[in-house]
Amino acid sequence: MLNFEFMNPTKVLFGKGQIASLAKEVPSDARILMLYGGGSIKKNGIYEQVKDALKGFDVLEFSGIPANPEYEVLLEALKMIREEKISFMLAVGGGSVIDGVKFLSAAALYKGDNPWDILSLKIRTEKGLPFGTVLTLPATASEMNSGAVISRKATQEKFSMGGPGLFPKFSILDPQVVASIPERQLANGITDAFTHVLEQYMTYPSGALLQDRIAEGIMQTLVEVAPRVIKDPSDYEAAANFMWSCTMALNGLIQKGVPTDWAVHFMGHELTALFGIDHARTLAIIAPSHYRYNFESKKEKLAQYAERVWGITTGTLEEKATAGIKATENFFHSLEIDTKLSEYTPEFKGTAQIIFRRFTDRGWLGLGEHKSLTPADVEKIVEMSY
Ligand code: NZQ
Ligand code: ZN
Repeated sequence: MLNFEFMNPTKVLFGKGQIASLAKEVPSDARILMLYGGGSIKKNGIYEQVKDALKGFDVLEFSGIPANPEYEVLLEALKMIREEKISFMLAVGGGSVIDGVKFLSAAALYKGDNPWDILSLKIRTEKGLPFGTVLTLPATASEMNSGAVISRKATQEKFSMGGPGLFPKFSILDPQVVASIPERQLANGITDAFTHVLEQYMTYPSGALLQDRIAEGIMQTLVEVAPRVIKDPSDYEAAANFMWSCTMALNGLIQKGVPTDWAVHFMGHELTALFGIDHARTLAIIAPSHYRYNFESKKEKLAQYAERVWGITTGTLEEKATAGIKATENFFHSLEIDTKLSEYTPEFKGTAQIIFRRFTDRGWLGLGEHKSLTPADVEKIVEMSY
């Protein structure tokens, strides 16, 4: 097991009716900006619940943060934060709204002239404007981590950022919000969380027995509840297990003491930036090719995964590892998630070369758990994903 430090300061309030607890979590003297997305919260009753809970508080609103939170939109919110002297933010939404608020948390206290530098220069945020979240869509675990991913249409870029100052002060996780989520977003959430576990697990054996078992437990739980959640998102027990699995998949715990990969996400983000494909779907496109391409260095963990998550116990190590990749693909297909780029866009040709060039220009020369995946390797993996 590798050395590690672990701290996660986010307070989680989980369960039915927890949105009503907002009043005791938000600072009473704060000037609050409530931020949300395109309006789903006005249709499913979450907006009213939040407003009711915050009666008597000084609350302004900013709406319209789109999926894949857009830099230009966030700059408008930043202007409002400054003009209105906002002292606390409340994100009500999925990963996009929460990530957008994290960017604002960093940008509001940033001393430099150009907030885009936070993303392009990877400036770590030690202290941000405080914020809490009401999660409406289980998927990213942004509600309990300190990372964010921001998009910029003008340049077709999508960059990540983070830092210890960007953990939410609290996050409210009421699984009842799952009931109104459309099937496509449910499938995305399951796929994203599942791939988060893979990114922190599918490397090489490092003697971290407990981390492996927790990671496998999260994947098994997602596999078990996926059909129930898709069939009936108002099934509270299924929704609660889905929600907590997503949070646990990327709140920092399972990555401690183990090598991590994250190359699938780096490649996937380019597909969203170039074609607007949903984040989770880009992962389903890249992951199988990534594991096939890096088969030799990942086969021990692939075989362990095949055995423990999918119950594949016969065959050689290589056969089990191969079957594990196939089972992953089948799982994505069972969620009606396509796993080839050509199924999403007719303009897929040349994508691998564009990504090769971008990674080379950015100096991203060694990705993955061995920091050895070159832009030329990335080009081959993306080509295999056509
Ligand atoms: O905008 P509204 O109208 O609210 O609709 C949203 C949005 O269109 C809708 N939705 C959310 N909750 C709902 C609901 N519809 C009905 N009922 C509800 N209860 O769902 C749509 C998608 O929402 P979004 O927030 O974009 O989805 P998700 O949570 O999957 O977030 C994706 C973003 O998170 C980033 C991704 O790159 C992407 O930009 N990620 C963030 C990570 C992190 N911070 O740790 C890690 C991830 O790997 C990921 O990269
Ligand atoms: Zn993800």
